[in-house]
This record gives sequence, C-alpha cells and structure tokens, in this order.
Amino acid sequence: MTDTDATIARLPKAELHVHIEGTLEPELMFALARRNNVRLAHSDVAALRRAYAFTNLQDFLDLYYQGMSVLLHEADFYDLAMAYFRKAASQNVRYVEFFFDPQGHTSRGIAFETVIAGLARAQADAEAQLGLASRMIMCFLRHLDEADAERTLDQALKHKDKIIGIGLDSSEVGYPPSRFKNVFRRAREEGFLLVAHAGEEGPPNYVWEAIDVLGIDRIDHGNRALEDAALVKRLAKDGLALTVCPLSNLRLCVVKDMKDHPLRRMIDAGLKVTINSDDPAYFGGYMNENFASVGSALGLSADHLMQIARNGFEASFMPAHMKEAALDAFDQAIRSPAV
Ligand code: HPA
Ligand code: ZN
Repeated sequence: MTDTDATIARLPKAELHVHIEGTLEPELMFALARRNNVRLAHSDVAALRRAYAFTNLQDFLDLYYQGMSVLLHEADFYDLAMAYFRKAASQNVRYVEFFFDPQGHTSRGIAFETVIAGLARAQADAEAQLGLASRMIMCFLRHLDEADAERTLDQALKHKDKIIGIGLDSSEVGYPPSRFKNVFRRAREEGFLLVAHAGEEGPPNYVWEAIDVLGIDRIDHGNRALEDAALVKRLAKDGLALTVCPLSNLRLCVVKDMKDHPLRRMIDAGLKVTINSDDPAYFGGYMNENFASVGSALGLSADHLMQIARNGFEASFMPAHMKEAALDAFDQAIRSPAV
C-alpha cells in the first residue's frame, strides 16, 4: 500500500452516488439465483465478469437490469444492501446516500413495499452494528415515461420517513430531464430533495434542464458541463455539487483514459466535486479504489483528496445539526497524527 493509499483509506468518507442494485457482486448474484431458482444468462461468476466489458452506458444497463432478476424477496434486498454497507464501512465510509430503482423491481412483479422493507432493515442494522448512517434516494428510470414515474412517486409518498430524495437515472441520451418536469415539481412540493444524472453521456443542455427545469439540488456526474463555460459559471455560483464517479466513467468509456478525467479541471473551475463509486460491483472498485485511481492518474495532492472527501459531507443532504457534527468529526480525524 502506498502512502497515498493509506491516506485515502484513513479519510472518513461520504458516498453520495451509489446505486444499491449496482453493488450486487457476481458471487452474491449467483447465490441469490440458487436460493430463488432464477436462471442467469451466464454460466458462472467468471463468465459474468468477462461480460463486464462495456463500451457505453447502455451496454452496462443491459447487464444491470438482468442482474436485478435475482432480487425477489425482502431478504434479498436486505442481503444486497448489507453486503454493500459492510464493504463501505470497511473503507471508512461514514455516511451513504444510496439510490434504488423501484421500477426495475415493480416491473417484474415485486412489490414496492418488499424493496423498501429489505433496504430499510439493512439500514437499521448497518447503523446499529457498523455505525454507518445512510439515507435513500429513489430514482425514476428515464427510459420509461412520466406517467410511470408519477405512479412510482405515488407509492413513495407513504415512505417519506425513509426516502429523502428523488433522482433520475438509466439511459440518458434521448431522454432529457425536461420530460420529467411535472413529476419533479410534484416531488418538490411533497418535500423531497432532488437530484438527476446529467452530462454523463448527455450534452450540457441536459445539465441546464436539470437545474432550470427540474430544480435539482445536486448533479450526478455532470462531466459534460465543462463543455459550456456559462454552465460552469452557474454551477460554481450556485455551489451545486457534482457527484463524480471516476471508475464508472472509465469503464463506460465516458473518458478514454483516467488521465483525461475532467475532475481536476472541475476543481480548478471552482466546482464542488465529490468522488463516488456508482455501481462498484460492475466497475471494479468501491470508494477507496475510485479515490486512488483518479488521484494517481491526475496527480492529486493529499490536500486535494482531503478536500474532495470533505466535500462529500458538505454536499450531503444531512440535516444541519448532523452535518455540522460530521464535519467536526472529519476535521478532528484528519488532524489526528495517524493521517
Ligand atoms: N448512469 C445512469 N443510470 C444508471 C447508472 C449510471 O451510471 N447506474 C445505474 N443506473
Ligand atoms: Zn449513477
């Protein structure tokens, strides 16, 4: 382990962009397939891993939706989330805001309540057993229509105690944020915080729409915002944070080489950036691997890495008193001689 790896491992971290279904490791997928008598398209773990060679977002999404087919019962969602929480805690992740895709499950006949119950039970156990606090953000699949999103929002209303925010994910190009204007307005009126994937593969105009049409509080990815100077200015002025996912960007060919990753340019432009893992079971790394890989490719200093980790807590949707305590704990931890 290099000095930098040790520094990264010791940094307290907050993860703000992780799809819980994207944390399904092939070993657990096959175990759940056996438990639930589900047939998978690949013969074994090795064959599945070999298929994780993506050329774009859609390539990945096709396998991501297939993978979900093993999740049937409350216990499956519990096991999925608990495995991720254990891994996150082992990397000194102290706080998580995770996405889930209910339409990926309700469309297969799984009850919305089953999904929520399993995830919520894992959250409670992670908090009690691992000291890891987490909150849920429900995403709409943007390749489905707004009416489907409206019905999904209806189902979320009785779970406002658990779901803090609404997001937008899945295939981006051809599905601009403005298609979801009405459902996002209603979500805002209902008190949810709002995020959207924008500028991962889609053009800067999608980021403008996420801000001006949907009224989002944070941007997921946002890489292509850098193509538009006025947009960069706006993001900086409003202090809108970006949840950047370096290994995801590499594996989905959003960047050709990690050395081309825009993270350093984002920092230099005054943007509030965070580092996250997106779908770690598919993209080859959790939080520490994401910090290490982009950090070494771009030559980021220990101060940069520390500031990016701190941004994770600052850009989180924690209530003010909790955020203040988390930032105090962060500052204390990095002052301790071990770091
Ligand atoms: N982009 C869009 N949708 C997704 C992703 C992503 O990286 N991961 C899971 N759903
Ligand atoms: Zn994502």
